[in-house]
Amino acid sequence: MEAPPGRGGLSSFAAVRRWVADETWLKRLLTARRWMSRAYFEVRYIVPDPWRVATSPYERERARLSVEVLGGRHYAGVLEVGCGEGLFTPRLLDRCGHVVAVDFSGLAIRRARRRFAGEPRVEVERLDVRTTELDRTFDLVFCAELFYYMNSAEFEEVGARLVRWLAPGGDLCLVHGTSVHDAEPGAAETGQMSARMIHDRFRRMPGLVVLRDLALPRYRVTLLRRTEAGRA
Ligand SMILES: C[S@@+](CC[C@H](N)C(=O)[O-])C[C@H]1O[C@@H](n2cnc3c(N)ncnc32)[C@H](O)[C@@H]1O
Repeated sequence: MEAPPGRGGLSSFAAVRRWVADETWLKRLLTARRWMSRAYFEVRYIVPDPWRVATSPYERERARLSVEVLGGRHYAGVLEVGCGEGLFTPRLLDRCGHVVAVDFSGLAIRRARRRFAGEPRVEVERLDVRTTELDRTFDLVFCAELFYYMNSAEFEEVGARLVRWLAPGGDLCLVHGTSVHDAEPGAAETGQMSARMIHDRFRRMPGLVVLRDLALPRYRVTLLRRTEAGRA
């Protein structure tokens, strides 16, 4: 049957909008070669604070909740994975003795180092979590908006690595914005990256128990604890 006049145009516009918002295409592109996601973030960081972490009310609320979910616990050592320019790091510093903030973007790391010059409680390191091992563990590993641009093999590898970086009894805090795939019940099975897929995978990892799990309309915040004995 022929579509009524005007409807076809509107539905193709909606389809294009959905395709752009979906970002599966971007993820496929960036995960084709390992250097591509590094290059993508380097380009994004040409403009300081590309995600408007410092100014957007949405980002400020997300940051507030990300710390609130930690409860009253004070941590000795924290690892912040994908710290960017270090805009969230001061919030972690309020809750701990020492932060190691890591990111693979040279531009972001340069800004973070400038920000924390003279602050002995913050160590800023440039590294790619897909390829780097650390020989130390932390009471808290904090990771926000990191996993979208990894393929499933990298996701599994980095996920296990984050758990290894947790001291027994240490906490892992994950924060990811929801995508169109979060609304699709079958998305996880088809490997489409979404907060649901990422967080549900961590929920099933051996050696972790779930302390809190907030599935909010725009993002998911999950706090897990490494059991004393178990190693993933
Ligand atoms: C979307 S930004 C989020 C920044 C910050 N965590 C936040 O929530 O505002 C993702 C960050 O992760 C970093 N990143 C992505 N993949 C990485 C990897 N494999 N190793 C280290 N850093 C990575 C990027 O450079 C970028 O700073």
